[in-house]
Amino acid sequence: MMRPASYKPLAKALHWLTALLVLLTIPAALLMLTPGIERSVQDPLFIFHKNIGVVILVLVALRLAYRAVNRPPPLPDSVPSWQRQVASINHWLLYGLLLAMAISGYTRVTAGGFPLEALDAMGVPRPVPRSDSLAETAKAIHATLRYPLIALIVLHIGAALHHAIIKRDGVFQRMLPFR
Ligand code: HEM
Ligand code: HEM
Repeated sequence: MMRPASYKPLAKALHWLTALLVLLTIPAALLMLTPGIERSVQDPLFIFHKNIGVVILVLVALRLAYRAVNRPPPLPDSVPSWQRQVASINHWLLYGLLLAMAISGYTRVTAGGFPLEALDAMGVPRPVPRSDSLAETAKAIHATLRYPLIALIVLHIGAALHHAIIKRDGVFQRMLPFR
């Protein structure tokens, strides 16, 4: 069978860096909010979560800009059209949810008047006004959107593994480095 065309190296690098950081920052968030957790563990987790979230925001923005110019390679003809549509919708929802999570997290912290270590150290100004009600709204959005985000990540990884292990149609390999 012909091997389907791969994503470009920069698209792959951005995908795997984002995936790694997202798959680290979600457990970090859930752990840092566990009742009774020690401050000496909680504080570094908060610092990690907030600052990595900002990095994820930048990475997703870069990815979308790169993608606008470098279209994803076509899927092989063996993938039925409904699966192409579900995959495409899922990819857009993942981009949208990552942006919404990062922006709501940023708003929750800046409107709430909390430190945001890396950006503060670089002297980056805060465009968001100080407001407790805005911070509470952003917090509620951030807490709610984690459910669809986690569900769609599970669907995405499940589909990728289905292609890798069961269908073996080269779709999984499209995203592997060094191919
Ligand atoms: C795509 C990036 C992000 C993901 C996937 C993510 C995910 C999560 C998750 C799953 C939680 C637990 C929610 C809960 O149990 O209530 C959480 C909490 C939190 N996140 Fe994020 N987050 C992201 C970005 C950010 C950013 C950029 C910031 C701040 C700059 C941030 C700040 C926080 C804070 C402060 C909490 C605790 C909320 C509270 O006060 O209860 N997050 N995040
Ligand atoms: C072990 C984890 C993961 C695996 C094995 C994986 C695998 C893949 C594969 C094989 C593709 C290419 C699909 C195609 O050819 O149509 C892909 C695309 C994509 N992945 Fe992942 N992925 C993982 C984690 C993640 C995570 C955590 C996210 C974000 C939350 C993510 C977001 C995306 C997006 C948005 C695309 C679409 C790229 C585009 O065409 O714009 N992936 N992934």
